[in-house]
Amino acid sequence: MFPLDFPLQQLAAHPEATRVLDPFCGRGTTLYAARLVGLPSVGIDINPVAASIAQAKLIQVTPGAVVRLARQILGGAMQGKAPEGDFWQWCFERETLRELVTLRESLLEMTTPTAAMLRAVMLGILHGPRNKNLPSYLSNQMPRTYASKPAYAVKFWAQRDMQPVRVPTLEVIERRAKRLLDAAPLAQGGKVYLGDSVETLDGLRQKFDLVVTSPPYYGMRTYVSDQWLRSWFLGGPPEVPYGSHGQIARQPNQEAFIQALAEVWAAAARRCNQGARLAIRFGALPSARTDPEQMLLASVRESKAGWAVKEVRQAGTPVKRKRQAEQFGKAGNAIEEIDLIAELIGLPR
Ligand SMILES: C[S@@+](CC[C@H](N)C(=O)[O-])C[C@H]1O[C@@H](n2cnc3c(N)ncnc32)[C@H](O)[C@@H]1O
Repeated sequence: MFPLDFPLQQLAAHPEATRVLDPFCGRGTTLYAARLVGLPSVGIDINPVAASIAQAKLIQVTPGAVVRLARQILGGAMQGKAPEGDFWQWCFERETLRELVTLRESLLEMTTPTAAMLRAVMLGILHGPRNKNLPSYLSNQMPRTYASKPAYAVKFWAQRDMQPVRVPTLEVIERRAKRLLDAAPLAQGGKVYLGDSVETLDGLRQKFDLVVTSPPYYGMRTYVSDQWLRSWFLGGPPEVPYGSHGQIARQPNQEAFIQALAEVWAAAARRCNQGARLAIRFGALPSARTDPEQMLLASVRESKAGWAVKEVRQAGTPVKRKRQAEQFGKAGNAIEEIDLIAELIGLPR
């Protein structure tokens, strides 16, 4: 995630904007910022976990509606079959796992806004640290931002004899829904698409005047596997997936990555009005041994879409816990982040 400040600053700098686009929307920070300032927005992400969380950023429902739906599902017959194996026995207490599987199974079939919000709440409470006081997460001790790999996690719990404790799912849902939704600003409309940015953009009809986005950082390849447990909740297999289909970060080399980004900037230009702004936050892992500024500039140039670069600046040193690389857990400290601002001056071919 990038911090909310980045899209908020861009929105403040472009008060003329009427609709905002984020072609790599992740968890929907740009969409939420747009909602805060009263604008509709469109987000695209190829990762189902990201798209589900982002979708919830656009929804208007009360915490009461979310809790009622959860209560109704859990009050019915238990559904689905719990995955088997050590990981599942260690990760969730038996009754909690039955509730979790029932919610997963029921929500797979539901498409209402309330169901979408409950799904996002579930993704948020699925795993995280164990508190001393009231539980906030359903799992045994785990990081919140990514799910540990099963073998590592089982070893961690077994070595400490850390048995999973009963967590009443409904109570955790209720607390989380209240916290998220009690003070939510009015929804402003918009939509999140699950899919590839270029393909999706080419199928859209709306026009945008502000694009605020952050593509995958160069060298960071764990967006999919880190979210394997949340992907399972959305209907994926109960294991760490191997591939990461369609992820732009999966390009074989730097040139291909630059080209893939260029295609996104070109597709975005085709959906923008003349004079539109494009604001990109980008970085590269130190291990990738590359200059993110040069890469990003090359991608905008390669797009040949009429984007004129107005400014490139260091993103500053964001608060440590907010940094994307830190969020995803594995990066060193020296990640360099830059912001690039461009204006659409020529109409794209
Ligand atoms: C740096 S993250 C975006 C984070 C976002 N700014 C936030 O606040 O959560 C980049 C996102 O790009 C998505 N992505 C990668 N390849 C994509 C593609 N071909 N089409 C659409 N999204 C893609 C990844 O799934 C990931 O969620």
